[in-house]
Amino acid sequence: MDLRDEHPNLGEWNRIIEASLADPDSEPILNLDRDTDPLYDAVFVGGGAGGRFGAAYMKAMGGRPLIIDAWPFLGGSCPHQACVPHHLFSEAAEELDRMRWFSEELFFPKFDPSRASILDLVKLFLAGRGSAHAFMNWQTKEQLDVEFLLNARATIVDRTTVTAAGRTFRAKNLVLGMGARPVWPDIPGLDLPGVLDWVSLVEELDYEPQRCVIIGGSKVAMEYGAFFNATGCQTTIVSRSPLMRTRSLHHVDEDLRHYVVDGMRKRGMTIIEGAHPVRVNGGRDGRVASVTVRLETGEEVDLATDFVFMGTGERPTVDQARDALGIDVLDTGRVVVNKRMQTSVPGVYAIGDMIDGPMEMFKARKSGVTAARTIMGEDIEFDYSEYPDFLHTTYEVTWVGLSEAEAREQFSDVVIIQMPPTVKGLDTPNLPLPCAEGTMLYAFSKPELSGFQKLVVDGDSRRVVGAHHVGYGAKDAFQYLDHLIHRPEGLTVDQLGWMNELFLNPEHFVQLSRLRAGSSDLRDL
Ligand SMILES: Cc1cc2nc3c(=O)[nH]c(=O)nc-3n(C[C@H](O)[C@H](O)[C@H](O)COP(=O)(O)OP(=O)(O)OC[C@H]3O[C@@H](n4cnc5c(N)ncnc54)[C@H](O)[C@@H]3O)c2cc1C
Ligand SMILES: NC(=O)c1ccc[n+]([C@@H]2O[C@H](COP(=O)([O-])OP(=O)(O)OC[C@H]3O[C@@H](n4cnc5c(N)ncnc54)[C@H](OP(=O)(O)O)[C@@H]3O)[C@@H](O)[C@H]2O)c1
Repeated sequence: MDLRDEHPNLGEWNRIIEASLADPDSEPILNLDRDTDPLYDAVFVGGGAGGRFGAAYMKAMGGRPLIIDAWPFLGGSCPHQACVPHHLFSEAAEELDRMRWFSEELFFPKFDPSRASILDLVKLFLAGRGSAHAFMNWQTKEQLDVEFLLNARATIVDRTTVTAAGRTFRAKNLVLGMGARPVWPDIPGLDLPGVLDWVSLVEELDYEPQRCVIIGGSKVAMEYGAFFNATGCQTTIVSRSPLMRTRSLHHVDEDLRHYVVDGMRKRGMTIIEGAHPVRVNGGRDGRVASVTVRLETGEEVDLATDFVFMGTGERPTVDQARDALGIDVLDTGRVVVNKRMQTSVPGVYAIGDMIDGPMEMFKARKSGVTAARTIMGEDIEFDYSEYPDFLHTTYEVTWVGLSEAEAREQFSDVVIIQMPPTVKGLDTPNLPLPCAEGTMLYAFSKPELSGFQKLVVDGDSRRVVGAHHVGYGAKDAFQYLDHLIHRPEGLTVDQLGWMNELFLNPEHFVQLSRLRAGSSDLRDL
């Protein structure tokens, strides 16, 4: 389907994408200039977050990129199966949590568990996800003017040649942005119906689970677990490491961790840490019926369930590229790159979830842009070792910089500004702080549910070195806090305390810092 001279609107793109997804034999979608045998500055293999942003940046700089993607849309896994459904489910979890706590109080109706359905939310997502795909195709074609070939799997021939849809494309550079897919450990029984992950949940779920066992203990496990549990599906997380202590998360503060994990338990979730999944067992109906788990004590227990959800991480899709190009790849499957996103093979770049570091959108997009800028001759490096981070339970959990424990290892005088404060006998469960948008009703009726926050300051330099927050609405601030505290000059408690707050503000850090900034000898608050 050659659309170079066509200008589909959003509805028309939606129909093209839906028809292509429904038919495995559907034809490729072409948006290519008509010159014969063009030489591109780069072919971006994969038009997800990394490839699309990288190609758009290259085009904006005057280069000629081509994106090839196996899906009939641009944008990749984030809007199709990952971040966007996760945010929809996490928002539902937040709302359901509030509905449950306030059932028949104030203006809240009696909570009706029969209307809280995982399946309904999955269907809602599926009915709406096409609009993001349609918009990204339209924007990339009409506004960003990037050439693309969609619904066509690329085969890498060598470092300047790619084939797709029966055609050969030549480029000065290749940018590999082929993403990663979930990996499941080798546990007997995982092939039973009822064992799903974040991909198959949205593509295949066709019943309403009543109980769930989640294997894994990181973001996917916590976010989906909190959602399933909030719908009323009795949820158990089985994790080898303590929750939020997995290697993929860094700088997690212990007090924040306790507030989050205790909160999940308070809401009825079972969390089994230090446990290893042994096997998944089927029932008479052929579907999963239980999971056998070895506890920290060595004892094996069977956890009855009708749904197993896998949150055991991801691995890049790298085999074909490695075999064709000979690029260096780590044991984890991640492609080795330098800070310019250059692989071990000249002219070949790798970006996004294919490379080491956090599998997050900021890294996918910025690594794509770094590759593009490097190819276009700029002297640019991207260091993703430090970054702000977040996850959802029924709360938004956000953090940046050092945890309190990490700060105490580095600095002799660490000052903590915290809400609620840790003061013996203060009766903090009845303290309606922190409060702001999203927690006001909690603050006045159930103050212990209104969140947690901590600012970590190096008392000698007076610099903020870490910030940690559980609540709602603070995530945006952390993007800017990350920039401010990681600048060479940093951000002092005095500068923070002199900012113009928009009161009430979810993290309260500005006004709390102001209460202490007058003192030459900083103390905890
Ligand atoms: C459940 C979940 C929730 C998440 N939530 C968040 C979040 O809230 N915030 C956040 O920052 N990050 C989140 N992430 C991470 C984020 O989704 C990823 O980091 C990001 O999507 C990676 O982008 P990418 O471009 O590297 O890969 P992808 O977006 O996966 O793109 C890869 C593309 O390559 C294509 N492709 C692969 N092989 C070929 C081939 N041979 N030929 C042609 N095309 C090919 C695929 O079709 C795909 O379009 C989440 C991840 C998960 C799993
Ligand atoms: N920004 C967001 O909100 C968001 C949301 C979801 C996902 N993501 C990203 O998507 C990626 C995938 O997330 P994820 O949570 O699936 O993966 P992850 O962070 O890599 O965590 C994998 C989890 O699986 C466990 N695990 C691995 N192998 C196992 C085995 N054989 N048996 C039992 N447990 C096993 C790990 O346990 P151990 O800790 O014991 O090793 C860990 O708890 C991450 O990079 C994440 O950052 C981002």
